[in-house]
Amino acid sequence: MQTNPEKYVVEAEHFAVGYGERTILHDITTKIARGTVTCICGGSGCGKSTFLRATLGLVPHKGGEARVLGENVNELEGDKRSKFLARIGFMYQNGGLINSLTILENLKIPLKAHTNLSDKVIVELIYHKLAQVQLTHAVHLLPGELSGGMLKRAGFARAIILEPELVLSDEPSAGLDPVTAADLDDLMVRLKNELGITLIVVTHDLDSIRRIADRIVMLDKGYVKFDGPLNEALQSSEPLVKNFFDRAPSLGHAGIGSLWEKLGKQ
Ligand SMILES: Nc1ncnc2c1ncn2[C@@H]1O[C@H](COP(=O)(O)OP(=O)(O)O)[C@@H](O)[C@H]1O
Ligand SMILES: [Mg+2]
Repeated sequence: MQTNPEKYVVEAEHFAVGYGERTILHDITTKIARGTVTCICGGSGCGKSTFLRATLGLVPHKGGEARVLGENVNELEGDKRSKFLARIGFMYQNGGLINSLTILENLKIPLKAHTNLSDKVIVELIYHKLAQVQLTHAVHLLPGELSGGMLKRAGFARAIILEPELVLSDEPSAGLDPVTAADLDDLMVRLKNELGITLIVVTHDLDSIRRIADRIVMLDKGYVKFDGPLNEALQSSEPLVKNFFDRAPSLGHAGIGSLWEKLGKQ
């Protein structure tokens, strides 16, 4: 397989993964360019989270090939694998923080594991990252003392603490009210641009997709149903894609979100 890791963070060709006997992603062929935001969409259970885990080489390989940051993800072992993982930030739904540790202590963990920096420099770095996500006031708080939006920002700070090239995020706006979700989107895109990160975001929040996506990869039953720029996805006549983008905004999330946006713009 020909690769161009300077241009693409992910290059997959007929890539297949699954659990046990079951294949979940059957045939994934896609390229994700550096510096972009790609939204992975599709119905519940279609394999979106599996796709993110598979880019880290965490799902048993069934066929084809995937290069992530130039590495063949299914051949990485030991030290090489650990170095590879340090180049990627993962933003977990619940922030991925340990509840009994303060935000400062939580953020120290990856820095201690992957760098030889002194404690003083580590603390300075953490303050710097927390300032970037507007969270310096929460440095000594426990995750349980943070609001939903603050927790996501702390999770994002954790994901970018090692200055990764690529950040993966699984449904970042889940559980947030529309205004907080929009703030988080803005923050992620701003820092992505400032820090030169590439973002891959699993989401089905239409408002969020419209705000952040450069590119859409839509999955269906483990196959790629659409792969292209957002504006093409919005105009697609492919029934699955059309239904996804035409779906009436649910009164909860997307509905109030767009209303709020319109009100905010007046
Ligand atoms: N660790 C696992 N072991 C076995 N099956 C799993 C595991 N994780 C997910 N699956 C199955 O893989 C399918 C895709 O799951 P997932 O990637 O979580 O979907 P999505 O994120 O699109 O909702 C589902 O049928 C799910 O039950
Ligand atoms: Mg999922």
